[in-house]
Amino acid sequence: MQDYNLTPGGLNLLQRVRYSIFPGTLRKLKDRESYRNFFNSLILHFRPRSVQERTLRFSLTWGLGGMAVVLVFMMFTTGLMLKFVYQPVPDRAYESIIHLQNNVLFGQLIRNIHHWSGNALLIIVFLHFLRVFLTGAFHPPRQFNWIMGLAMFLAVLTSNITGYLLPWDQLAFWAITICSGMLEYIPGIGEWLQSLIRGGSDIGPATLSIFFAIHTAVIPAGLLILMPFHFWRVRKAGGLVVPRTPDEDPSSRGDSVPTIPNLILRELVVAVVLIALIMVTAVIFNAPLGAKANPGLSPNPTKAPWYFAGIQELLLHFHPLFALFIIPVLILIGLVSIPYIKYQTETAGVWFASHRGRRMAILAALTAVIITPVGIIVDEFVIDFASWRPGLSPVVGNGILPTVFVLAGIIVFYWLVKKKYAATNNESIQSVFVLLVIAFIILTITGIWFRGLGMALVWPWEVGS
Ligand code: HEM
Ligand code: HEM
Repeated sequence: MQDYNLTPGGLNLLQRVRYSIFPGTLRKLKDRESYRNFFNSLILHFRPRSVQERTLRFSLTWGLGGMAVVLVFMMFTTGLMLKFVYQPVPDRAYESIIHLQNNVLFGQLIRNIHHWSGNALLIIVFLHFLRVFLTGAFHPPRQFNWIMGLAMFLAVLTSNITGYLLPWDQLAFWAITICSGMLEYIPGIGEWLQSLIRGGSDIGPATLSIFFAIHTAVIPAGLLILMPFHFWRVRKAGGLVVPRTPDEDPSSRGDSVPTIPNLILRELVVAVVLIALIMVTAVIFNAPLGAKANPGLSPNPTKAPWYFAGIQELLLHFHPLFALFIIPVLILIGLVSIPYIKYQTETAGVWFASHRGRRMAILAALTAVIITPVGIIVDEFVIDFASWRPGLSPVVGNGILPTVFVLAGIIVFYWLVKKKYAATNNESIQSVFVLLVIAFIILTITGIWFRGLGMALVWPWEVGS
């Protein structure tokens, strides 16, 4: 065995650089081991030394939090690359995207990766949010991490919406015109907020540079602060919730195992598979790009981006003040309150809280699957609260009346399931949560695939015809 026991003085340039990274005695045959030690200690600077074995089960996290991290990382790297070519002024923005796609090596691919990762991130974060709720991972000591998560959700949503305008094509211009137009209905500050965000009364050069600054500086900085805080809170809570069956004792935690290789290897596999899927998607499907923005020609129907399709659908059934302000604010208050409600049982780590909770959640999902489309069709073709009485103001007819009607329906559902199943608070609140989530998904699907010319209800194959 040859011993290279080299000292810094006797090294060539390359070896000196290596020595500056991996100080210590360089033993050729032990190189692999010393690299491993170096990386292991690097990893252990920001990961715990050991984790609960049960939290490694894929059926607890589905790898979703980790996938969100990988996707944010991909957004940052591809976003930075796009910045080298993209020009945030109306005269040049669209042309710079065309130039990127046609003349820059891998330009189209990088844009595609940014586009598909951004959309995937929204879906993954939404699924992560559902898993956290349905495994009761918002109970103490994880309450504040739920709130941080909500803030990160808003950041990812804002990233997507601000990025949407940047290509400056017809799709982008008119979708952002609609979305920023919605702000008008916020009482008191709506018009001020709208002109603040647009940088004037219309969408123009100021809007583009504001969106660009928010997209490439404000939100990335926010995420860079929030994400480490989020992970630190997971550490402070003693790791993830330990999964257990409803009948298991809450204090049973199982064994702990070293993070390396048990957790790190699993995370690596999830990351590699996810990156491969995004790459394949980005190679096969190009990010959409319509004709250059034409402020004088609005497409019909003018649709919001898919993640706002549910709210745009609400707008067809409720007065804008309710669809765009009162209902979203009520939902936000509900989401922020979730971890602070008094619950009767300790359910952290149990999927759906209990066997009964699971049955109630299935019932809630089925109810939403039936009631929501029926409600949409009845409101479209049968009931018109607004013409219920002559002279009724739209705020009452299209706002207060249908909102009270829906709220009453939710309260009746809550009491019925609570009584029928003799359920705890945890189980009943969970079933209302599931009811609302499924209803929102159905509204979104309707908005995306079942609305055509003039936003009339149509079959998916007739959309756009
Ligand atoms: C960019 C968005 C987000 C990222 C990058 C992220 C990342 C993560 C990661 C890596 C974990 C640990 C592993 C896992 O649970 O899969 C985690 C846990 C957690 N996240 Fe998130 N998250 C995000 C959004 C959210 C949202 C929207 C919520 C809820 C409103 C949330 C609430 C939580 C909670 C409560 C935990 C602890 C779970 C437990 O102890 O089992 N996060 N997050
Ligand atoms: C959570 C993080 C991010 C999300 C969700 C996101 C999302 C998006 C989306 C959906 C688009 C429109 C893509 C298209 O369809 O054309 C876009 C465009 C763009 N983004 Fe991001 N982005 C993020 C972070 C970043 C960062 C950190 C930068 C740079 C520092 C960046 C720079 C750009 C640029 C220059 C464009 C215009 C190019 C184009 O539209 O293809 N993004 N982003």
